[in-house]
Amino acid sequence: MFPVHRPRRLRDQPVLRALTRETRLTRDDLVQPLFVAAGAATPAEIRAMPGQRQWPVAQLAEEGRRIAESGVKAVLLFGIPQRKDEQGSGAWDDNGIVQQAARALKRAVPELLVITDLCLCEYTTHGHCGVIARDAAGAIRVRNDPTLELLARAAVSQARAGADVIAPSDMMDGRVAAIRRALDAAGFADTPILAYAAKYASAFYGPFREAAASAPQAGDRSGYQMDTGNAREALREMELDWEEGADILMVKPALPALDILRAARERFTAPLAAYQVSGEYSMLIAAAERGWLDRERAMWETLTAIKRAGADLIITYFAAEAARALP
Ligand code: PBG
Repeated sequence: MFPVHRPRRLRDQPVLRALTRETRLTRDDLVQPLFVAAGAATPAEIRAMPGQRQWPVAQLAEEGRRIAESGVKAVLLFGIPQRKDEQGSGAWDDNGIVQQAARALKRAVPELLVITDLCLCEYTTHGHCGVIARDAAGAIRVRNDPTLELLARAAVSQARAGADVIAPSDMMDGRVAAIRRALDAAGFADTPILAYAAKYASAFYGPFREAAASAPQAGDRSGYQMDTGNAREALREMELDWEEGADILMVKPALPALDILRAARERFTAPLAAYQVSGEYSMLIAAAERGWLDRERAMWETLTAIKRAGADLIITYFAAEAARALP
């Protein structure tokens, strides 16, 4: 018998395929992460993330302009300080690396939206995302409430430096409320919070920890980041951040958590961000370098899948490359 239903009718020609395409990536969807290193004289290649660099503040303006010229309209800034300490005081230093970088970028490329990642792990000697203490058995525990005050201070310092959006990535309970309160009190009621709301303890952050020199010296992050097996908990984390005043909710990583992105899209009215993280980027590049994958096609497929699942914005190391290639 002949088939009655023939979806292939719409697939047969490019024009029909284009007319009926459901998901389209645009330059407006993309955010480029950007690493800034204190004390650096020249851009340093990040070994585990080919094509990505740590930038000196002095060359940030140039790189910011290149990104803006690609059509990408927003960056997510990460600072790598020269000195770290137990508390991570570099995070709230008004002359700290991320503050200098935000000022430099806003001065040179004012139209580029600057989102600052807010966490302590790049700034602490131990590499954890909060204040640590040892428990009776000698294991490192990250203390929630004392961390909130430090995050709030760092958020205000970032806003003062010109950050357009503050993006807390620490996963402490109650941090969005604490940061919102501190920003409001300091006169930054109009500065939005992009919360890393559903952030899993993922192996795919591996290359980033080289890029940001932020690997925990002992222990891991499973005491504060989420367990891969949990989906309802992710929705609860997102709900809490939304109630506490987050303006945009993020799911991270992206491909390994597409189901969460889809569930969140159905459940929340909030704008949703997805972070295609360092390991997601590096594994595609590594396979492409071996000739096992087509780099461009794999890039488009993953970015489109992330958008199809429900992301309004995508933070990706491919941002500038994708923007340049978009029609
Ligand atoms: C800081 C932070 C991390 C990432 C973003 N912010 C690392 C981590 O939580 O260990 C990961 C980004 C990436 O892998 O691209 N807490």
